Order: sequence, then C-alpha cells, then structure tokens
Amino acid sequence: MLWLAQAAAILAIHLTKVGAAATLYPNATNPNPSNSTNASELNDATSPPYYPSPWMDGSGQWADAYTKAQDFVRQLTLLEKVNLTTGVGWEGEACVGNVGSIPRLGFRALCMQDSPLGVRFADYVSAFPAGGTVAASWDRGVWYQRGYQMGMEHRMKGVDVQLGPVVGPLGRSPEGGRNWEGFSPDPVLSGIAVSETIRGIQDAGVIACTKHYILNEQEHFRQPGDVAGYGFVDGISSNIDDKTLHELYLWPFADAVRAGTGSIMCSYNQVNNSYACQNSYLINYILKGELGFQGFVMSDWSAQHAGVSSSLAGLDMTMPGDTAFDTGLSFWGANLTIAVLNGTIPEWRLDDMATRIMAAYYLVGRDRTQVPVNFNSWSLDTYGYEHPYASMGYGLINQHVDVRAEHGTAIRSAAARSTVLLKNNNALPLSGKEKFTAVFGEDADNNAYGPNGCSDHGCDDGTLAQGWGSGTASFPYLVTPLAAIQNEVLQYGSIIQSVTNNWAYTQIEALAKQASVALVFVNADSGEGYITVDGNEGDRNNLTLWKDGDALIKNVTGYCNNTVVVIHSVGPVLVDAWYNNPNVTAILWAGLPGEQSGNSIADVLYGRVNPGGKLTFTMGASRTDYGTDIIYKPPNGHAAPQDNFDEGVFIDYRYFDKNNIDPIYEFGFGLSYTTFAYSNINVIKASAGAYTPTTGMTLEAPVLGNYSTNPADYQFPSNMTYVTAYIYPYLNSTDLSKASEDSSYGLPTEKYIPAGATDGSPQPRIAAGGGPGGNPELWDVLFTVTATIANNGTIPGEEVVQMYVSLGGPDDPKVVLRGFERLSIQAGSSATFTADITRRDLSNWDTATQNWFISSYPKTVYVGSSSRKLLLSSALNI
Ligand SMILES: *[C@@H]1O[C@H](CO)[C@@H](O)[C@H](O)[C@H]1NC(C)=O
Ligand SMILES: *[C@@H]1O[C@H](CO)[C@@H](O)[C@H](O)[C@H]1NC(C)=O
Ligand SMILES: *[C@@H]1O[C@H](CO)[C@@H](O)[C@H](O)[C@H]1NC(C)=O
Ligand SMILES: *[C@@H]1O[C@H](CO)[C@@H](O)[C@H](O)[C@H]1NC(C)=O
Ligand SMILES: *[C@@H]1O[C@H](CO)[C@@H](O)[C@H](O)[C@H]1NC(C)=O
Ligand SMILES: *[C@@H]1O[C@H](CO)[C@@H](O)[C@H](O)[C@H]1NC(C)=O
Ligand SMILES: *[C@@H]1O[C@H](CO)[C@@H](O)[C@H](O)[C@H]1NC(C)=O
Ligand SMILES: *[C@@H]1O[C@H](CO)[C@@H](O)[C@H](O)[C@H]1NC(C)=O
Ligand SMILES: *[C@@H]1O[C@H](CO)[C@@H](O)[C@H](O)[C@H]1NC(C)=O
Ligand SMILES: *[C@@H]1O[C@H](CO)[C@@H](O)[C@H](O)[C@H]1NC(C)=O
Repeated sequence: MLWLAQAAAILAIHLTKVGAAATLYPNATNPNPSNSTNASELNDATSPPYYPSPWMDGSGQWADAYTKAQDFVRQLTLLEKVNLTTGVGWEGEACVGNVGSIPRLGFRALCMQDSPLGVRFADYVSAFPAGGTVAASWDRGVWYQRGYQMGMEHRMKGVDVQLGPVVGPLGRSPEGGRNWEGFSPDPVLSGIAVSETIRGIQDAGVIACTKHYILNEQEHFRQPGDVAGYGFVDGISSNIDDKTLHELYLWPFADAVRAGTGSIMCSYNQVNNSYACQNSYLINYILKGELGFQGFVMSDWSAQHAGVSSSLAGLDMTMPGDTAFDTGLSFWGANLTIAVLNGTIPEWRLDDMATRIMAAYYLVGRDRTQVPVNFNSWSLDTYGYEHPYASMGYGLINQHVDVRAEHGTAIRSAAARSTVLLKNNNALPLSGKEKFTAVFGEDADNNAYGPNGCSDHGCDDGTLAQGWGSGTASFPYLVTPLAAIQNEVLQYGSIIQSVTNNWAYTQIEALAKQASVALVFVNADSGEGYITVDGNEGDRNNLTLWKDGDALIKNVTGYCNNTVVVIHSVGPVLVDAWYNNPNVTAILWAGLPGEQSGNSIADVLYGRVNPGGKLTFTMGASRTDYGTDIIYKPPNGHAAPQDNFDEGVFIDYRYFDKNNIDPIYEFGFGLSYTTFAYSNINVIKASAGAYTPTTGMTLEAPVLGNYSTNPADYQFPSNMTYVTAYIYPYLNSTDLSKASEDSSYGLPTEKYIPAGATDGSPQPRIAAGGGPGGNPELWDVLFTVTATIANNGTIPGEEVVQMYVSLGGPDDPKVVLRGFERLSIQAGSSATFTADITRRDLSNWDTATQNWFISSYPKTVYVGSSSRKLLLSSALNI
C-alpha cells in the first residue's frame, strides 16, 4: 500500500509476458547456484501461462461459507457483482480501501484497512509490537492473542479486512525496508507465526489479508516509475526457480492458506518478468491450484496493470480501484461490466471473484460481527467529508471510539517476552537500587514532535517502537525507556540522570564517569519506500546503528565499566565494534516493541520478566556475510531491474552455515537469567501411509444466475448524485467501445486472451494440491520427538527449545528449523519438549513431478537452544 506521492506512469504499463513461452520458470533449478561462475541461469526468466483460473470449491473449512456465498451471489445482478470486486478509488471513502455497496440488499461497502500491527490512520487504537518483534517470543499464545486483539480493534472500528499479516517480504536481505512487518527469514517460524495471527484476527470476526504475494523482497523499484537519472524503470523482477519458491518463499503462504486466511494481497513487483497481480502461474497455478486457496486475491494499491488479463490471471479485487490514484478511471468497474458483456471475461469468472469475496466474509462471521465504519482515515476531526477526495458528503466522520480495551497489558507483556538477551556478564537483572543510573541515547526519550509527529512514522526521532510506512498505527501513548527507568529507580530513592543528545560528548563523558550502571539506547530504522528517511529509501543503506550509535557506545564504555546496551531495530545490526568490549556488560535486542516500549524493557531490565526471546535472524559480523543484498541502482539497458535469487534457499543462517561463516549471534540465540540443560532425546516413529498425489478432475465452473446482454440495462442511473472521481460499475454509453474509453478497445482477443483462459469445463487437479495449503498428506506426522529440558539455575525461566532437521542432500542446508516450543520451567525442575515431524518437514520439492518427495539421503533431527547449539541429535529412520 502506498501514499499519495508515486502512482504516476502506471497507465503506461500494459500487460507483458503473461502469455510468454515457458522457458525457465518451472524447472529452472541450478543445483548449486551460489558457486556458479557463469551468468545467472535466472537472467530474464519468464513465467509460463496457466489457465483457466481455478474456481472456488469450498474445500477444507470453507464448505459452509461457500454455500452461503453462492446463495448470496446468486441474487446479484452483474453490476452488483462488479461492485464487490472494484474499489471506489483512492480516498473515495473512509477506509484506505473500499469497494462498492449493494444498496438493494442493504449490503454496505467492505472496508479494507492497514496495518499488520494495528489500525492505521485512526485514533483511540493500540500500537502493537511489530511482527518481526513478536516473532522473537517464539510463543504461539503471544501471536494468537496479538492477532485476536488487533482483529477486535479493527472490528470495533468497522473494518472488514485487516491488511496483514505479512510473510512477504520474508527477509531475503537484512536491508529490506519492510522486513520488520513480517516475522522472520525462516519459513517455518514465519509460517507458524502467520497461522496463529490469522486465526486470532479471524476469530475476532475480521478477514485477514496475508501479504505481499510474493517475492516483494525490497522497496527500491518495487513499482514502475521514473528514477532520477535513469528515466522510466519498470517494476523489479524477482527471478526465482521452482525449488526455491516452494522450499522457502511460498512455505509460509501455504501455512497461511491452510490456516484459512480470507484474503491474500498480491505484490507490486514482477516475478520472472510478469507482474505479481497478473501472473497466472503464481495466482492460478500455485496459489489457487496447488495451494487450493479459497479466499480472494486483492491487489496492492495500484499494483493492477491490466483489466481483462488480471481477472483471467486470478485477481479478484482491485485496490484502491482506480487506474492510478484519483483518475476516476478503472481497469475494472465499468470495464469489468463491459468485459463480461463482450464475452472476454466469462460469467463464471466474475461469479468466482464475487463468491470468493463473500465466502471470506461468511467464513469469519462478518454477517454477525459487522458494525458501521466509525472513523475516517483521512481526518481525525469529528466532522468532515464522507468522500474526502471529492470533498462531498459533509457530516460526522469520526466517532473516536476507544477500541483499546485492556490490550496495553498484553502489549507490554508480548514485547517483554520478545526481548532477546544477547550478552550478560552478571550485569542484569538490575535491582533499581544501583547507586547511580545513567541513561544515554536519543532512543531512550520522546520524539520532540510527539509520538505520531512524523507522517506515517517517517522519521527516526526519539525512541524507536515501530518502523515507517503503511505498516504502522498511531500511538495512543508511547512509554519511553527513560520514563519507565526513572519510575523504577525513584521507587528506591536512587539517582538517575540522562543525556539524550547522541553527540553531546562532553556531557556524555561527564555523566558516564559518575554512573554505576549506564543504559545506552541505540536504534536502526527502515520502512516503506514512499518515504525516505536520512537517505534511506525504505530499504536500509547499511546495517550499522543510526545516529552515530557506535560512537555513543564507545564514548560511554570509555568511562563506564558497566554499560548495558539496548537495541531497538528493524532487524540485524552490526555490533562487531563493541559487543565484546568488557565494559559492555549486557546487550538486549528489543526490536520494535510498540506503545509500552519503556515498561516492556524495564520489566526485563529489573527482572520481573526473565528474558526468553531468541533471535529470529542472524546477527553477522559484516554486511557481506549475508550473501544477499538489495539492488539500489537500476542496471543500464534494462527496462526492469533483474533481481536473480541465485542463492536459492540459502538465506540468513542457511547461508552462514553453508559457507562456514561465524555469526556474532546466530539465529535462534538468546540467553536467560537462568540456565537450562538438555537431555534424553527420544524419537517415536508414527505410522503414516505412503504419500498419494491428488488426481482426478474438478467440477465445472459454477455459473450463478444470468444477466441481460443489453448495454442499455447497465447505464448510469439518471437520478443519482455522482461522487467526483468515484469508480462505478455503470456505463456512460450503450456503445461498449465508447463506454470503455479505451483507444485499444476491441483488439483481437488472441492478443490478450491466453489459450484456455475462458474454459469453465472440469480441469485436472494438481498432484501437490488437494486441500487448503496443499496436499493434506503433507501434514501426516512421521515422527514425534521429545527431549527433557531442565532449569538448573535458581529462578524460574522460559526456554525456547528448537528442533532442526538435516535433510541430508548435497544441495540441502546444513540444518533447517522444523519445530519449537517455549517452555516455562521452575528452578530445579524439568519439562518435556515435544514436536512432530511431518511429511512436509522432511520433503524436498521435485520440479519434474511437480510434487514433494522424501529423498534417500540420511536424515537427522537435532534439538537445541539455537541453530548452532544443536545439543541433542538422533537419526531418522524412514
Ligand atoms: C560447486 O561446489 C561443489 C562443492 O561445493 C562442487 O562439487 C561443484 O563442482 C562446484 N560447481 C562448480 C560449477 O564450480
Ligand atoms: C455500487 O456501489 C456504489 C458505491 O457504494 C453505490 O452508490 C451504487 O449504488 C452501487 N451500485 C449497485 C448497482 O449496487
Ligand atoms: C478502461 O480501461 C482502460 C485501460 O485498459 C483505461 O484506459 C480506461 O480509462 C478504462 N475505462 C474506464 C471507463 O474506466
Ligand atoms: C471487451 O471489453 C474490455 C474491457 O473494456 C476491452 O478491454 C476489450 O478490448 C473488449 N474486447 C472485445 C473483443 O470487444
Ligand atoms: C548508515 O545509515 C544510517 C542511517 O542513514 C547513518 O546514520 C549512518 O551514518 C550510516 N552508516 C554508515 C557507516 O554510513
Ligand atoms: C567520543 O566520540 C567522539 C566522536 O566520535 C570521539 O571524538 C571521542 O574520542 C569519543 N570519546 C571516547 C572516549 O571514545
Ligand atoms: C568498575 O569500576 C569501578 C569504579 O569505577 C570499580 O570499583 C570496579 O571494580 C570496576 N569493575 C571492574 C570489573 O573493573
Ligand atoms: C572501561 O572502563 C574503564 C572505566 O571504568 C576505563 O578506564 C577503561 O578504559 C574502559 N575500557 C574500555 C575497553 O573502554
Ligand atoms: C432513482 O430512480 C429509480 C427508478 O425510478 C428509483 O428506484 C430510485 O430510488 C431512484 N434513486 C434516487 C437516489 O432517487
Ligand atoms: C519440467 O520437467 C518435466 C520433466 O522433465 C517436463 O515434463 C516438463 O515439461 C517441464 N516443464 C517445463 C515448463 O519445462
């Protein structure tokens, strides 16, 4: 989702390569890509066509919702169906996205609202910790509860679709600007976190929109547009092979589909040189075919670049509906009505689009939970315009409904439980009775402009508690670390002073010399590409601390031998300059904790919460250690930057392991104020049958109702008041060509209708499919692993026990995470860790059979405290 600025030049883009010949995409597997010496095999990769677009069949948990949706859609006219699919245009209504309504049936327009961490553009809401922060709790309960509470807040504001959670970007490169909105570069951790979040949001009666599908791994060039000094540059193409797609980036989307996500947002970028929102291979074949996705695919804001073709390629809803912001024109709307009338889009496809949208609505119970929209994204004023862009419909627009309930308590706890203790030379926990506490760093204090003083949080002033862009929410308050620490210390009548100007070296030195403990707060920020902060166009330019954090730490440690560093960051930062300085006695990674930031960190610093979080990414010694990076400059001579994912599945810890690079803090690492001992691994083999590929044919596409083919029945009603620049389903002429306002109207259909695209007859089922998420037998349990974990310290603690698997092949990562459990264990007691290993967990993707298989290489399971502390192991005899 983007803001006002960009959106230009999109009209110029037309559909390319949707029908291009299948060359590289499905079978392009370079078995050992990272040591290839030749130019990438992925150069200029193309995406093969796949048609027709699979129609919903009500499989899995969708049966009931499917029946209700069909009953509803059967009653609709063609115009009403079109209304469900097309946004009314940017700032046309109260929400960031709004489709048309069906007044005849009393069905109000659906409201789509950011963000993945709360309700964006609203007051009296909570600002939850970011996805990448709560991931570090490794706690399913925390993820579910956060999802449920965010869902409740959206519901109470009248939102139908929450635009979150995020598993794309996955986090291929640590510099990626929006990585923090998602969970982790590990697909299994992300997959479990996204599932729990979806269940939470949807149990609250709101549709989750899992995004961005797919390979939206950087902000630079994500959309087509002009680049200073280069002219027009097409959207970046993430070029990937089939194996990497399945084993890495698609994995958490499969979990999201299995968890029942009602909606999926397709992304801005191209994949193998075809835009993700009209890529028939990705939407029709992979998402709706193989993964059996039953809900609806929504475009990112202005990510749709063609009308007929995007519908045939599987797009179900266009956002915000206009061709570019506020043109008053649309690829759908009237054009979709026309396309059905002239036969280029079959009725069954429009019926399927509408059915999928309504099925998601019924799946989560919107028919029971919907309340009127009672806020307005474009103004916090009480009175204003119902249609902000048009300045029409003045009246009550914001009822200031306080939807926060007791969520602040859970937010405080979730952030504390997600905090990772990276180093502790007996410095922590503190007592509050330290003789002289000194706090350093702008990151400890308020933003002088207020917690919401920078538009969409597009600045790095004061303490960092969320990144910037559309993935944000307004803070109701922001408890600063300085305020919370001061409250703590003053309970004991001790001394606390602070210097929050990072460059006041004289004052820093003077204060550091007096301190018995120094708490240094540092940060690193990033966000969405439409805002540039300190030269960072969304993606980070480097992995170092911002605001000269390294110099600040160096100054304090030069004078204080008990310095505790707290990092608020969007992902990994380089700590090599100071982490092993003996005067740095403790290091905490606190991520982006949300509104209760100060209280959450104080709970950990003062020992009320024994830290149990673990890193969900690798902290490397240098940027190049990661092996992947962002493309910052468009290459000469290419319309679209070509981003070849040559590293395959080897990102983050898998890359470090493969190349024997020592990280500073590895994936999965985190300390506690107590210690744990691991023993007694036990592997029990379950009796699962052989894997059966799905076979057979689908039913034919259902057609719901009939429609008049007379254009006169679709004209604008003569007596209605039109909202300026609003997108309607009606025609302004009985001549379809004139009504389309499209100079290329009537082009021979073979130019833009791929073979088979309008065929509604039964289609072959996909072998790796068979249910939401994929073939249900992939989730058969093959082994159950247990181990004993003892707390051998003196205080209660929580340990995130991790299970890794080695798949054993020469092209496989050394180990891959496959399970985990956060155990709460009393001092002197022990607990049993239990995790299942499914068929999917032991499988590789076979490009030839287009299915999962278990290789004959020897497999091993490991149970440990991090990706490099694999304390227990056992062979897996399949
Ligand atoms: C790549 O590396 C593997 C072992 O690491 C080696 O067996 C293989 O020959 C190498 N391939 C090329 C093209 O250099
Ligand atoms: C389509 O939606 C618009 C906006 O909500 C509404 O004014 C119009 O009446 C709807 N048209 C039909 C045919 O329901
Ligand atoms: C129909 O779509 C075309 C692009 O395919 C666009 O140029 C035209 O403005 C649209 N017409 C309407 C009425 O929105
Ligand atoms: C059918 O309508 C669509 C939408 O306006 C238009 O793009 C297309 O060119 C039309 N095709 C024919 C064959 O009339
Ligand atoms: C890295 O980026 C930050 C934020 O723009 C900046 O403050 C810092 O100076 C940069 N570091 C280096 C080494 O250039
Ligand atoms: C404090 O930082 C400044 C600026 O980097 C530097 O000149 C000074 O030497 C530092 N002092 C110490 C003790 O590191
Ligand atoms: C740290 O410095 C204090 C005096 O400033 C001193 O009493 C203490 O022994 C030092 N600790 C270490 C571990 O050097
Ligand atoms: C550690 O702090 C002491 C002051 O307590 C200082 O004398 C010493 O130089 C510092 N050491 C380092 C490595 O900064
Ligand atoms: C417009 O006219 C139609 C048909 O006469 C009528 O049903 C409808 O209520 C009128 N709408 C308005 C907004 O007056
Ligand atoms: C992929 O490989 C299989 C088996 O080698 C082959 O049958 C299939 O046609 C290939 N697909 C493409 C698109 O090249």
